[in-house]
Amino acid sequence: MELVVPDLAYLDAYADALRRGWSPDNIRLEMTAREELAKIAADPVAFVASLDDREAKGGPITLPDGSKAARLPGFRRWIWDGTFCGSIGLRWQPGTALLPSHVLGHIGYAVVPWKRGRGYATQALALMLEEARREGLPYVELTADPDNEASQKVIRANGGVLVERFEAPAYGKEELRFRVALD
Ligand SMILES: CC(C)(COP(=O)(O)OP(=O)(O)OC[C@H]1O[C@@H](n2cnc3c(N)ncnc32)[C@H](O)[C@@H]1OP(=O)(O)O)[C@@H](O)C(=O)NCCC(=O)NCCS
Repeated sequence: MELVVPDLAYLDAYADALRRGWSPDNIRLEMTAREELAKIAADPVAFVASLDDREAKGGPITLPDGSKAARLPGFRRWIWDGTFCGSIGLRWQPGTALLPSHVLGHIGYAVVPWKRGRGYATQALALMLEEARREGLPYVELTADPDNEASQKVIRANGGVLVERFEAPAYGKEELRFRVALD
């Protein structure tokens, strides 16, 4: 398993996962999958480029309650084992480890259902923590649904410590907040 920079060479496998019902977005699920398939059809080069957006040029993001919020700088990597396995993203506010309250964690990930249970999410998070360290972040926060045991295991296996249970604004649900120290 490796993390690859999104590239046209991997795009067919990525689009295939979207068509099979997988989504890189754990909140907006099929809405994001539909939007991404439309973007891939319209301009595949621009779509791939948009996944590495350290200048936050991508415009505002849509929250689950329909409100808009400023996009943070960030980038995605694809989990690859010879074929597409999943996606993991890092986002941050320049110059600080603090996040705006509407952003649920620095790192989010999703593995396609047919590649789960092989340790890929655990390995992908370990690799992404190295990237976060390279960006100069002293720690990262990750959030998980209290019912999402698999994700909590992934976070704890990477040194995540539970900070709090909180009501996520704009999301209308309780989440667990973990922190992983990087320094
Ligand atoms: C959460 C998710 C990323 C885990 O991916 P994965 O590649 O299967 O994870 P791993 O193989 O690294 O497994 C992590 C641990 O969770 C365990 N696990 C896997 N599925 C589980 C389940 N349904 N219930 C409980 N534990 C589970 C594994 O056994 C492993 O534990 P271990 O290290 O003690 O053996 C994947 O299930 C997924 O994409 N889910 C939907 C999206 C999502 O929830 N993203 C995270 C949002 S915070």
